[in-house]
Amino acid sequence: MTQQMMLQVQDLSKTFTLHTQGGATLPVFDGVNLAVGAGQCIALTGASGAGKSTLLRSLYANYRPSSGQVLVRHRDAMVDLTGAEPRLQLEIRRETIGYVSQFLRVIPRIPAEEIVAEAAVAGGMDDAEALNAARALLQRLNLPERLWSVPPATFSGGEQQRVNIARGLIRSFPILLLDEPTASLDAENRNVAVALIMEAKAKGAAIVAICHDETVRAEIADAVFDVSAFQAAA
Ligand SMILES: Nc1ncnc2c1ncn2[C@@H]1O[C@H](COP(=O)(O)OP(=O)(O)OP(=O)(O)O)[C@@H](O)[C@H]1O
Ligand SMILES: [Mg+2]
Repeated sequence: MTQQMMLQVQDLSKTFTLHTQGGATLPVFDGVNLAVGAGQCIALTGASGAGKSTLLRSLYANYRPSSGQVLVRHRDAMVDLTGAEPRLQLEIRRETIGYVSQFLRVIPRIPAEEIVAEAAVAGGMDDAEALNAARALLQRLNLPERLWSVPPATFSGGEQQRVNIARGLIRSFPILLLDEPTASLDAENRNVAVALIMEAKAKGAAIVAICHDETVRAEIADAVFDVSAFQAAA
C-alpha cells in the first residue's frame, strides 16, 4: 500500500533578521527537505538551539521561511502553505493542521473543559457532544474532575500540558505538529499521551513531533530527522 503524501517540505531555509540588533542575521537551517505520509510520524532531533521549534513553526506558517516551500494536503490537493493568502492559511489551520505547542496558551477565565471542547466545536462538533468528548479526554489524561471547570492559569505545568494535549488531539487533524508534548508529564500520563498519539496515527494523521524523551520517540516515531544536519552557514 502506498502512503498518501500529506506534508512535503522543499528546500526550506530560515534566517532570522534581528531588527533590534541593527539588522544582524541569524541563519538557523538551510536546505531542509522532508516528506511525511499519512499515518507516519517523524521525530525532529538536534541539540538545543538547532532549530527544531523554528522548523515546526514554519510548518504551521507561524514563521515565514526565507526560502523554500511547505506543501500540505488540504481538501485533497497539495497546497503551498507558505505562499498562501492569510485567509487560506487560516482555513488550512482550522481544517488540516493541528498544532500542540510546548506550553498551553492560557486564555483567562475559560475553564479547562471549554478550552478543549472549543477545539472540537471549531471542527464542526455540536456543543454538547464536544463537551462530552472533552471530559472523556481529560478523564483519560487523569486530570482531576474538580479542575475541569477551572481556568488553567493556576494549573501545574503537567496539568496545563494535559489540557493542551487534549485540545490538540480531540479532533482528527490530517496533519499534527507536536512540540514536546510529553515533556512535563509523569510516566503514567506520558503513556496516555503516547496512546493518544498512536490512535491519531492509526486514523491516518501525518505527524511531526519534537520529543527529547527517547522512550517516547522510540514508541511513536517511524523515522528521525536531525535538524542540526541542516545548520546554515553564518
Ligand atoms: N523569533 C526569533 N527571533 C530570532 N531568533 C530566534 C527566534 N526564534 C528562534 N530564534 C533562534 O533560532 C535558533 C533556533 O531556535 P529554536 O527554538 O528553533 O531551537 P530548538 O531546536 O527548538 O531548541 P530547544 O531544544 O532548546 O527547544 C536559536 O538560536 C534561537 O535563538
Ligand atoms: Mg524548541
